[in-house]
Amino acid sequence: MMDICVIGIGYVGLVTSTCFADLGNKVFCLDTNEEKIEALKKGILPIFEPGLEELVVRNYQSSRLVFTTDYDEAVGQAGVVLIAVGTPSGKEGEADLHYVEAAAAGVARSMTKPVVVVNKSTVPIGSGDFVVNVIRKNLTKDLDFAVVSNPEFLREGSAVYDFMNPDRVVLGATDRAAADTVAELYSSLKCPVLITDLRTAEMIKYASNAFLATRVSFINEISRICERLGADVKQVALGMGYDRRIGHAFLDAGLGWGGSCFPKDVKALEHMGAMNGCHPQLLRAVMEINKDQRRHLVQKVREALGTLQDRKIGVLGLSFKPNTDDMREAPSIEVVHLLQHEGAVVKAYDPVAQAVANHYLTGVEYCQNPYELARGADALVVVTEWNEFKRLDMSRIKSIMRQPVVVDGRNIYDPAVMRQQGFVYLSMGR
Ligand code: NAD
Ligand code: UGA
Repeated sequence: MMDICVIGIGYVGLVTSTCFADLGNKVFCLDTNEEKIEALKKGILPIFEPGLEELVVRNYQSSRLVFTTDYDEAVGQAGVVLIAVGTPSGKEGEADLHYVEAAAAGVARSMTKPVVVVNKSTVPIGSGDFVVNVIRKNLTKDLDFAVVSNPEFLREGSAVYDFMNPDRVVLGATDRAAADTVAELYSSLKCPVLITDLRTAEMIKYASNAFLATRVSFINEISRICERLGADVKQVALGMGYDRRIGHAFLDAGLGWGGSCFPKDVKALEHMGAMNGCHPQLLRAVMEINKDQRRHLVQKVREALGTLQDRKIGVLGLSFKPNTDDMREAPSIEVVHLLQHEGAVVKAYDPVAQAVANHYLTGVEYCQNPYELARGADALVVVTEWNEFKRLDMSRIKSIMRQPVVVDGRNIYDPAVMRQQGFVYLSMGR
């Protein structure tokens, strides 16, 4: 068991801290956002993530989690410091490292003993060396340190499960002993541990996210062709996925990928490639296809209604995927803007993301449930595939809508059943 520090208590930092605490370590959770830290001390979480609240409260009460805004308190005792601050997109699509820089500088200034600094944030290839330099520049005493890259692969909505059941742990380091120290933290989780050099580990993260985004854009391109040629993309994906070389995951056609990571990471990888003399044409196409899906959905709504002007549209689901309240780059944002731009009156319902969505959207009326949303609507548009939408009372929905039009951006309903129930039902690639 170790004393460790996690810097940046967001989606990754809070899950990482809590899971490492639950594995028996003492974890100092450091964030510069005082409000967030004060709320966490009261057991109020800044995010919605299934299963997390209970773990946070339990480990805080057992004093294995310490929440603080004080670098000296957090870094002073720790043998391992993990940096999990944000790396948002800069102006040109590059990853903005200024939070990482501030965190690394803070660590250097607060170190009282040798430390292994672990980069858990998704950072451009070469950032390990950058962090080494920042720490060297800011060290106030002559202390040893090593930098390890340990990219995180958890998904929002299943973050605790993913953290505790990783497919692999990737560690990039120049110092093997430092990598072994970090590997020790994961030793009770049964999975392969791959130790590489720093740059390779950093690239594994970008390549993994870009590959997953590519699969989704691939199936979305196939879905467009399916639509034209009368095939059903859901069945096509199922048939493809049985091939063990292909697999079923990440072949759900629909509105495409959003969230805090795929959009910024594909962009950042494309930028790194372009800046280094490559021609990353596949990554560009992957992004283009993704953008098209949102426009394509709105076009379907327009076609079903003749015009969007003054039509009442009910948007089912706002978060970028189910089981999270994260609205960063959620497809709903563009869908709502496009609908409003053409004069539609937009109402929306999301089981958990409405409060957060309010910061991203304007002119939207929020409803208490899907039935309130359906009342008087000219069309319902499924944007996020929350489980509760899959089991709605469709005859009730139909009876309260002004027009029985459902445009399903996530293919959650059966076309034959919907048509039998009297809906004008449009979906993606079927
Ligand atoms: P986030 O925005 O939710 O949280 C970042 C936190 O860092 C914020 O609470 C912020 O206040 C804090 N912070 C910023 N600067 C700080 C500083 N100098 N000192 C202390 N705290 C500071 O971010 P996130 O979604 O958790 O992502 C973090 C990193 O992990 C990103 O690089 C992201 O790409 C990567 N990642 C995210 C996910 C995910 O599911 N969200 C998954 C894998 C990897
Ligand atoms: C993704 C990766 O799956 C994680 O491994 C990674 O750690 C994380 O990014 C990150 O780096 O932040 P996340 O963004 O939480 O996780 O969610 P995903 O489940 O990957 O979904 C991303 C987007 O793709 C969502 O908008 C989802 O609706 C969309 N998607 C996913 C599809 O449209 N079709 C699919 O078949 C799968």
